[in-house]
Parts: sequence; structure tokens; C-alpha cells
Amino acid sequence: QPGCPHLRQFTLAPPAERPLDEPDYFGELRTECPVSKVKLSETKEAWLFTKFDDVKAVLADPRFSSESGRDGFPIEGQPGGLHPVNVGMFIRQDPPFHTKLRRMVVPAFTPKAVADAAEFIEKAIVARLDALAALPQPVDLVEAYAIAIPSDVIARIMGVPASETERFQQLTERLVTITLTPDELDEAMDAFIAFCDEMIALKRAEPGDDLITQLITDRLDTGEIDRDRLLGFIILLVLGGHDTTGGMIALGIFTLLKHPDQLALLRSGQRSWGVAVEEMLRIHSVARSGPRRVASEDLEVNGFQVRAGEGVIPSVLSANHDGEKYGPSRFRDFTIPEERPRHLAFGFGPHQCVGQNLARVEVGVAVERILERYPNMRLVDDRVENVQVRKDRGFWGLRELLVDLGPAAEG
Ligand code: HEM
Repeated sequence: QPGCPHLRQFTLAPPAERPLDEPDYFGELRTECPVSKVKLSETKEAWLFTKFDDVKAVLADPRFSSESGRDGFPIEGQPGGLHPVNVGMFIRQDPPFHTKLRRMVVPAFTPKAVADAAEFIEKAIVARLDALAALPQPVDLVEAYAIAIPSDVIARIMGVPASETERFQQLTERLVTITLTPDELDEAMDAFIAFCDEMIALKRAEPGDDLITQLITDRLDTGEIDRDRLLGFIILLVLGGHDTTGGMIALGIFTLLKHPDQLALLRSGQRSWGVAVEEMLRIHSVARSGPRRVASEDLEVNGFQVRAGEGVIPSVLSANHDGEKYGPSRFRDFTIPEERPRHLAFGFGPHQCVGQNLARVEVGVAVERILERYPNMRLVDDRVENVQVRKDRGFWGLRELLVDLGPAAEG
């Protein structure tokens, strides 16, 4: 459209010397060309939306379809294969079918359900903290802590017995690795599905107070869903909740260790942990590869025309760094605001993250408890420019977070 000739390769790569900032061209586009065509591959292009209000408007409008099978869907560069079981994933479906499926899992993630799970989440985190003390220093907190916690928590919600959580975590790790060959991915998927089938058989024999039992009793046995759909639910929850939450925990710890003045404000009670978590969710936007859509008809977004069949990337990362909405958003400027920032890190509209209440608690408690237990914890390398992000995962996160824990706090 007029005045916007840009056509660039779409990338989420940050500037090399500032690996925790958004790509520089996002800021340029927001001022010069807020909606611009980007190239995803030799043959595929999409509209990149960069301003907060426009991104929110796209996400709010279900006529922007989430069905990845539609022509024009801008799937390139997104994690996850197109295994047949993916048909069960409501993240890739539109209302009203999407709404019907989503409602089946929502009860396990309401604020009340998460409040009921708080005691277990706390215990899972303390157990991981206890285990850290026994490890040789320095410790990599990504593997030993950040990624382990969401895995423990989702395993418990689904009803995976404690004796199987390690196997569950190994199978999950494989499933979320995006550097596998198609054959390896099929193998990983088959191994995960075999595990799920075992769990379904176990829950039939010994029903529990857990999500898999509930879905079997209320949905599978009533004929509302079939086995593939149930597998799709389990896989979606694992894919959606694992590296996102784990990535945020490690980035949260790193962020506060790099900003001791802000950590001091939290410790003295001058700022709240809840607000700090929201600000970290905003600046890091770990699901930045996330929301993609295709226009199901000719549509208009705040005056901008999108034609039926055109792909759209409503960038939550760019929206969350929009200078018209927020103050400075570079990592080096990290400041915990007084008020909770409203952001799009969990998306918006019909597909807004199902697990957001859970993620907030997991990230908040995991980051707060480790900094309480190890008040003198130090980064082995504290140079931001040396930070390595994971290339083997679909969501944003640190490859490792090496720390010297230092002595544990008394009591
Ligand atoms: C959807 C981000 C944690 C399960 C989404 C979406 C975003 C997001 C941006 C919207 C996708 C779209 O519009 O296409 C995050 C972030 C997390 C997180 C940043 C952690 C920091 C979790 C957890 C779970 C979860 C812990 C569950 C255990 C889901 C599911 C959807 C979803 C099932 C699909 C919702 C739908 O299509 O209706 N998430 N997520 N997420 N998330 Fe999360």
C-alpha cells in the first residue's frame, strides 16, 4: 500500500551485540511502515504487523484464520511438524470448532484451578532447588531448573505418575526439538504417542484426579472426541507450556541478576514480583515466533486492507516494544514499573494462551524462590553480548545459564 515498498526477509534474529533486544528493523518498521510485506521463503510472503493496536486487532478478529492447512498460511519458520495428530490441536483451528475443543481443557487452567495447584507447584520448585545444592558448581540452570519445572508441573496436572516424570521429560525434550530430521521427528512423535497410550491405559485402570482421567471420562468415553483428538490435547499442552515457561524462568533469573538495583527494589518490597513478571514477559516475549494467521476473506485492520488468502504475522514481540505504548524496552533499560503493564505476550482474542495463569505462577515462584535461597548467586559470564540463545527450540530462551549458586540462605 502507498508509501511502503519494503520487502525483506522475515527474521527474529536480534542485533549480534544485543542478543536480548528485538531486531532493529522492527523499530524502523513501526515508524516508517507499520504493516509491511515480508518474505518467508522463495515462494511465500506475508504481511508483518508491528504496531500494538494493529497486532491486537488482528488477534481479536477470528476472520483471521489459524488453520495452518489453508492456502497462504504463513507457517514457514514456525516450530512443529505437520504430523497427522496435529489435527487435534485447537491452536490451529477456528471458532466455533476451536471454541468447543478449547473449552474441554480450560477448566484445568482457570485462576481457581491454578490456585488449587499452587501448593504442588511450590513443592515441585523446592524439590528442584534442593537437588541443585547437590550439583557441582557452576550449575546450568536451564537444564537443572528452568526447563525441569514446567515439565514437573504439567506432568502432575495430566496425572503422569512420579515414577514416570523423568521419562516424560526426556520424551518431551525430544518432541520440542526443532532441529530433528523429519524421520527423527516422526520417531519422537511416535515415542511420545506410545507413552500417552500407556498413560491412557493406566488412567483407565486407575482413574485419578487429573486432566487425562477427566478427558477420558467426560469426553472420550462419551464419544465427543476420539483418541487422536485426546493425543492432540496432550501434545498441544506439552508443546505450549514447556519451552515458553522454561525460557521465561531462565530469562527472568538472568534479567534480575543483571539488574541488581531492580532486584533490590523487589527484595525491599518497593516493587511487586507480579509486576516484575509481567514486565519480563513483555520485554522477552518468548512466544515471538508465535501467532500466525491467514485472512479468510477481504479484511480491513485500522484502515489497512488485507485480501482473502493473504498470510499475516501479528508480531507480539514488536507490539510489546511499541514506543507509543511503553517506555524504553531495551534489555539494558529494564525497569520494573509501578503498574502492571498490559502486553500481548500471551496473545489476545480467541486463541489467547490457555496456560497463562499457570505460567505466571510458575515463573514468579521459580524466579523468586531461587533468588531467595541463593542470595549471592553469580553469573559465570555476565556479559550480555555473550548470551547464547537456543536454536534448537521453537520458542525464545537461553541455551544455558551458568551460575555459581553460592551459599544457601539460612533457614
Ligand atoms: C496459546 C504464549 C505458557 C498452553 C498461546 C499463544 C501465545 C502463548 C502467544 C497464542 C497463540 C496464537 O494466538 O496463535 C505463552 C507464553 C507462555 C505460555 C509466553 C509462558 C511464559 C503456556 C502454558 C500452557 C500453554 C504453561 C499449558 C500448559 C497454550 C495453549 C494455547 C496457547 C493450549 C492455544 C490456545 C488456543 O489456541 O486457544 N500461548 N504460553 N501456554 N498456550 Fe501458551
